[in-house]
Amino acid sequence: MPPRLIAVSNRIPTGSPSSGGLVVALRDALSASGGLWIGAHPDPGTGLEEMEEVSGGGCRCLAFRLSEEEISDYYLGYANSVLWPLCHRRVDLVEMPSTYEERYRAVNARVAKLIAQVARPDDLIWVHDYHFFPLASELRALGLANRIGFFLHIPFPSLGDLSVLSQPEDFADWLADYNLLGLQTRGDVARCLEMYRADPRAEFMPDGTVKMQGRITSVRSFPIGIDVDHFRELAGVGGRNPFGREAPDGFVIGVDRLDYSKGIPNRFRAFGRYLKTRPEGTRPCLVQIAPPTRERVQAYQDITSELEEIAGRLNGAFAELDWTPIRYIHRSIDRSVLARLHRMARACAVTSLADGMNLVAKEFVAAQDPEDPGVLILSRFAGAAEDMTEALLVNPYDIEEMAAAIHQALEMPLDERRARHAACMEVVRRTDATRWAAQFLAALRTCMPTLSPQVAR
Ligand code: ADP
Ligand code: F6P
Repeated sequence: MPPRLIAVSNRIPTGSPSSGGLVVALRDALSASGGLWIGAHPDPGTGLEEMEEVSGGGCRCLAFRLSEEEISDYYLGYANSVLWPLCHRRVDLVEMPSTYEERYRAVNARVAKLIAQVARPDDLIWVHDYHFFPLASELRALGLANRIGFFLHIPFPSLGDLSVLSQPEDFADWLADYNLLGLQTRGDVARCLEMYRADPRAEFMPDGTVKMQGRITSVRSFPIGIDVDHFRELAGVGGRNPFGREAPDGFVIGVDRLDYSKGIPNRFRAFGRYLKTRPEGTRPCLVQIAPPTRERVQAYQDITSELEEIAGRLNGAFAELDWTPIRYIHRSIDRSVLARLHRMARACAVTSLADGMNLVAKEFVAAQDPEDPGVLILSRFAGAAEDMTEALLVNPYDIEEMAAAIHQALEMPLDERRARHAACMEVVRRTDATRWAAQFLAALRTCMPTLSPQVAR
């Protein structure tokens, strides 16, 4: 039996078993070790409750409740109005009233205490994402010497942007309490090492680890992936046509949370540019599924209005009585419908201005028929572009280049589509969710243990 795994993430699977890659990867690793998944309850509470069992994702989940103030200041505030824009190169959107950081630190301290109540000395603890940067420091302060790993699902921030934080030196210090720091790409690792190089407290060891005031951290990339076969099955032939009788014969698909990091307004503008110059007689269509997210944050309200304005303007200019060029759905849709849409699309546009990996890119590739595949148009600023170099790589700030890529994708000869798809599919399989989790956990198991967690620093 492998050591028991405790996974920690702000969002945990609840309700019906989910088929997201993270859930599948962690569910397998958790059930193999009899482990636990700890995270925030979907409903608010007083913030004083003990953890409670919730059912979800096919594994044992324990949830803590966040109070309304914690949701505002820790989740919408410090996590999503400071750290999210900071890591996605939008420091202009950072908002930092002091209560955000205070509550973020307090939630991390409280969650550490709850974890300490259930953790055993040999457990592996795997913390996910920017909601919990200080969690290992809080656990060490409580005396836990367990191997603790951290995986950052979003881009690692640049050294310059980190100086926006009120105490940037605390950021490097928080990370130093993890034995293993997993990042999405080699580019993220380079930015992380640049941060340590600029910190006089950090030393580089001959084995590539970083030593900071007695603590040793290994920094490596582990590109995340999806549950490939499951998504292929969902997308497979035989399912219902999601359009009913009237399916557009060739369309471009976009699927993203409506987040400013996804570059959706520029995607619409590029599609508008393409509409102007499209081959005569064609009636292309962009199907954009963009469910709302973090709606109480002003920047998300602004992007929603901007997108509605652009979609309305373009449809007003180009639509005909029997043709709507942009079909925009602002809600979540069933994953099996999503998978079918990917399969039917001639191209997928992923135009992130910054993105940790972008699983939609991998889902689109997985869903294709290899004999007659669609084409992935992929921002070079999405983590997926580091390995999926045979996608049509674009600069999401360059509207003309993206319009040309849409044209190229829709006109691409079959041989080229097959060759590009086969190369991308090889990456999707090589980096699937199960291998991602197994490789991270194997690396965590071999990390040097923390000998004295409460060493005064
Ligand atoms: P992020 O983690 O920033 O949201 P990713 O592309 O890495 O971006 O992952 C998004 C996940 O959410 C994918 O698995 C995608 O299929 C799913 N998803 C996105 N939009 C929808 C939607 N409208 N309905 C259902 N699932 C969605
Ligand atoms: O992948 C990045 C991420 O922020 C995850 O941590 C998160 O679960 C997901 O996107 C969706 O965001 P949220 O949990 O804020 O809805």
